Amino acid sequence: MKLMKRILGVLLALAVITLVALYWLGTRDDASTGPAAAPADPQQRIERGRYLAQAGNCAACHTARGGQAYAGGTPIPTPFGTIYGPNITPDERTGIGAWSADDFWQALHNGKSRDGTLLYPAFPYTEYTRVTRADADALYAYLRTVTPVNQPSRAPELEFPYDQRILLAAWRALYFRPGVQPPDPDQSTQWNRGRYLVEGLGHCAACHAPRNSLGATRAADGLAGGIIPTLDWYAPPLTNDPQTGLGRWSAEDIAALLRTGIAAHSSASGPMAEVVLGSTQHLSDADALAMGVYLKSLPASPAAAGTRAAVAPAAMELGGRIYRQQCAQCHQPAGEGSPGAWPALAGNPTVTAPSPLNAIRMVLDGGFAPATAANPRPHGMPPFGQSLNDNDIAMLVSYIRNSWGNQAGGVTPLEVKRARAASTRN
Ligand code: HEC
Ligand code: HEC
Ligand code: HEC
Repeated sequence: MKLMKRILGVLLALAVITLVALYWLGTRDDASTGPAAAPADPQQRIERGRYLAQAGNCAACHTARGGQAYAGGTPIPTPFGTIYGPNITPDERTGIGAWSADDFWQALHNGKSRDGTLLYPAFPYTEYTRVTRADADALYAYLRTVTPVNQPSRAPELEFPYDQRILLAAWRALYFRPGVQPPDPDQSTQWNRGRYLVEGLGHCAACHAPRNSLGATRAADGLAGGIIPTLDWYAPPLTNDPQTGLGRWSAEDIAALLRTGIAAHSSASGPMAEVVLGSTQHLSDADALAMGVYLKSLPASPAAAGTRAAVAPAAMELGGRIYRQQCAQCHQPAGEGSPGAWPALAGNPTVTAPSPLNAIRMVLDGGFAPATAANPRPHGMPPFGQSLNDNDIAMLVSYIRNSWGNQAGGVTPLEVKRARAASTRN
């Protein structure tokens, strides 16, 4: 009896210690700031902040469709419910007008609001923590110049227990590593700049890294790609595998995709078109190229492709017939496309990706590459979701995935049916 009590006592003490340790780990502040070199001239600092806000795509989550710049209210769907981007205009009462530069740094670097409230990682501070203090100060300076808007931020609508912010302490203890990365002295300035942008403000991992059931990305998986559950699009791996990743792209190709929305092998569609539109088209040529150079240095780990059934000759035959009737006038008989107008489908990573989801969604919904300064009037693709049924599309997409040198395996009508349901959801 006595022994029992003692064991229970020890267990209880251990549990308390673990909780205290988790709480401490999950709420501690990080002291790294990176090199301090904010432009001294206030106007220059504001301009720098404007550029960084585009590189970080802050408006994507803080400007609602049709709403005022940075006034918040943008719904951000997560597997746990919906969170709304808050008002970050300099309004004193409902925005961040009363915040100091230190408060702002605390949010970006340590993921805490002004009053110390732990913030949900739907705000990608897990990546922004790598932004230097100097760049955070420039962002702060710029945000103070936008029009203040009186609009209270909307509370998150999350399911229990995710609505309990205190639990974020444990999540953060497990998955959040605050800190500015010191430059790697063995790599070039260009590579380091690229890594800083890709892993920091660019927050490419938010979509291109696989997530676990608690919504955390695992650094060990790198930018290995995966389905974005709430968007129902597949973000391809940004690693260097020639089949599933960017192995056949040059750093210049990647920079072209980011700046213009189209590249030699592919064009940006769906959520990536939005990223190009709102963010990466505004990057300087040097910064876009630095990102390409960094991404090209990633290992060639192939994505988990799984095994897909070979396509029956009859299905290839039917798929080919639909292709010649509906698609060849733009994508050309041998899938070779026409540079600058119609993307090639031969060797196109969207077509050969391990997941056929994006190719199916393009056929269902059609789409436009983003309008950018370099490609101001992009050609569009009409939707075929009404005119072709699930069987037709399964054969058609199987055909383009297995013609002209593409060898990506077959697609089932069930996959098309699921993609159709997703495309009506969002
Ligand atoms: C992917 C969406 C997303 C992007 C991109 C994003 N934010 Fe946010 N941000 C959020 C969400 C959601 C919250 C609120 C989190 C919460 O309530 O816990 C937030 C909170 C904040 C806060 C804290 C506000 C407060 O009242 O506590 C600041 C400051 C902020 N973001 C600034 C920025 C800046 C600057 C950028 C660009 C560099 C940016 N955000 C980009 C989604 C985003
Ligand atoms: C909101 C989610 C999201 C974010 C953030 C995002 N991507 Fe993407 N990206 C996608 C999706 C979805 C695709 C697949 C659609 C397509 O092919 O355009 C994609 C495709 C790509 C492609 C391949 C294009 C192609 O057509 O095969 C490249 C290169 C790329 N992204 C680079 C980046 C980089 C670099 C960043 C960070 C600056 C980034 N992405 C941030 C969702 C995202
Ligand atoms: C009127 C011309 C036109 C027709 C017809 C057409 N497409 Fe497209 N297609 C385009 C354009 C333009 C794009 C680029 C759109 C974008 O980036 O969002 C595109 C993009 C695609 C993509 C994504 C490529 C990428 O790089 O992201 C696939 C897959 C595709 N088309 C397949 C088809 C199939 C299959 C058909 C026949 C059912 C078809 N298209 C019919 C013009 C067309």
